[in-house]
Amino acid sequence: MFINRSSYFSHLRRLFTMKRVVVKLSGSLFSKGITELTEFATLFRTLLRKDIQAIVVTGGGEVARRYISLARELGRDEASLDEMGIEISRMNAELLISALKEAAYPIVPKNLTETVTYAESGKVVVSGGLHPGQSTNATSALIAEKLGAALFVNGTDVAGVYTKDPRKYPSAKIIKEISPGDLLRIIESEKMSAGTYELLDITSIKIIERSCIPTTVVLCSPETVKGAILGEKNGTSIVTKR
Ligand code: UTP
Repeated sequence: MFINRSSYFSHLRRLFTMKRVVVKLSGSLFSKGITELTEFATLFRTLLRKDIQAIVVTGGGEVARRYISLARELGRDEASLDEMGIEISRMNAELLISALKEAAYPIVPKNLTETVTYAESGKVVVSGGLHPGQSTNATSALIAEKLGAALFVNGTDVAGVYTKDPRKYPSAKIIKEISPGDLLRIIESEKMSAGTYELLDITSIKIIERSCIPTTVVLCSPETVKGAILGEKNGTSIVTKR
């Protein structure tokens, strides 16, 4: 990989100065064709040139939910359904790697240790889910925690955290800033089973809280995700106290 000692040391220097951001991409992105996927790949390549390394986690989306629901009807246990969801999220990761080409680390990590090791390449790392019993949001929070990421941007299919589910209640209002405790109260009523870990699950909020990870929830589009990484105030900021 390195031609000589000096290229090895300049790689190390770059790794030290690089800013790492973890970006969760909603699984819905992967059912839309390749245009936005290509735009995201361009964004992550551009960020890399500015020494901002994206560690991307891809959601399972509609395809995962469909497989989970069919297998549940066939009587499969919840843990296996989670594992199926993870497999689909990993296929979505493969799609993004295809779009990123040489800017991506070419292998989808299977655990946190692999994620950290692949991040040392200085390339964009793309992960799917890692552990049954949680969502790709929890995976993203764990990766952000492990890497000491400067920011976790959670790209979802709505514009942020709302007072109520905006897809069901048109009167729902977006919340600009929220504490992990208040967020927990909003989502506590949610059902927790394979394919249904909405927005942010309890695990992800607990991880954000315990490690004070700067987190923003935004619409999953290349413009809003870019804005969030560059410090624009859009969507919902999760405000933690040290
Ligand atoms: P997601 O977390 O992506 O759920 O994983 P989602 O609701 O589809 O999220 P979006 O809409 O893409 O953003 C799909 C399913 O895979 C399993 C869970 O069953 C989850 O609901 N999964 C995923 C895990 O069990 N562990 C993981 O680390 C990730």
